[in-house]
Amino acid sequence: MKALILVGGFGTRLRPLTLSVPKPLVDFANKPMILHQIEALKAIGVTEVVLAINYQPEVMLSFLKDFETKLGIKITCSQETEPLGTAGPLALARDKLIDGSGEPFFVLNSDVISEYPLKEMIQFHKSHGGEASLMVTKVDEPSKYGVVVMEAATGKVEKFVEKPKIFVGNKINAGIYLLNPAVLDRIELKPTSIEKEVFPKIAAEEKLFAMVLPGFWMDIGQPKDYISGLRLYLNSLRKSSSSKLSTGPNIVGNVLIDETASIGEGCLIGPDVAIGPGCVVEPGVRLSRCTVMRGARIKRHACISSSIIGWHSTVGQWARVENMSIMGEDVHVGDEVYSNGGVVLPHKEIKSSILKPQIVM
Ligand code: GDD
Ligand code: MG
Repeated sequence: MKALILVGGFGTRLRPLTLSVPKPLVDFANKPMILHQIEALKAIGVTEVVLAINYQPEVMLSFLKDFETKLGIKITCSQETEPLGTAGPLALARDKLIDGSGEPFFVLNSDVISEYPLKEMIQFHKSHGGEASLMVTKVDEPSKYGVVVMEAATGKVEKFVEKPKIFVGNKINAGIYLLNPAVLDRIELKPTSIEKEVFPKIAAEEKLFAMVLPGFWMDIGQPKDYISGLRLYLNSLRKSSSSKLSTGPNIVGNVLIDETASIGEGCLIGPDVAIGPGCVVEPGVRLSRCTVMRGARIKRHACISSSIIGWHSTVGQWARVENMSIMGEDVHVGDEVYSNGGVVLPHKEIKSSILKPQIVM
């Protein structure tokens, strides 16, 4: 079975992290976002993943080559010369997706994190006999997403409305599709939106079906959602493989610490914290609701909450970093500095406090 992951878009809402790597390579819970998806695909027997990409393919590919052998899955790129939207890339990768078997293939948005009940989705797809299946989930603010109105008993989609201006319903497109090759005959090789131009037509022909995604879901394409997404993810890890989470007198709630990270005496860590490979957390540090990425150092008695510390950054002694502060790669926050929602571009040194949310260039 094959799969395509939509990897386009510049990830502007996750800057400054996406100034260092393409969005799908930004770490989430200690590994690049896209690995969560590739691993889930591999687990249900997908043999080849096509990355539909419109910039920096070299960066993605050289990175993923390692994982190709580790995971035993083929990863290839399909590169657009102009952004083709969310459907055009399928037309471009047509020959890679069709192998004559007539089997359906998966399509995934790359900025979404969830439980991936892909086996159940295959069952569902077989059971309804339509042309396309998608997963839906309930959210509080449906207007930011594609809203799906469906028949409760069968899952048959009656209406698909992308980013509706008026309330249509609260079930939204989770960005996980299983499509028959026939869907490709509906898509031309030009910039096209699958949400606006393809799904509404399949729905009108009564061949589009939706299943409600069990478990958590989050589009982690912006900092606030990234931080809530980590909470949901760790919560679900607690249920599925709690042995991966840290325990001990200094740990509160769900905390994921890479085995190569070192944690000093007298720290208090959690809840909802991820500490990546090679990080050094010095004694007496307080961390909650935050991500500390690979190679970062948090110095003595620093306090970090609701924030993201990018790769190889340092946070000084007695510094306080909070309220959606995001430090890009290799940022150095001085001793005793306070950051209240500071968004700091890569390679900067911060010597004085950031008193209100702002971007520091
Ligand atoms: N290759 C390629 N080329 N990929 C693209 C392009 C493009 O031109 N434009 C967007 N993508 C990728 C993005 O990287 C992302 O993985 C996916 O397509 C969806 O694009 P977003 O820009 O993230 O869309 P959205 O979040 O506003 O809405 C989409 O996702 C929601 C769920 O998070 C829609 O699919 C909604 O219907 C859905 O509810
Ligand atoms: Mg998105």
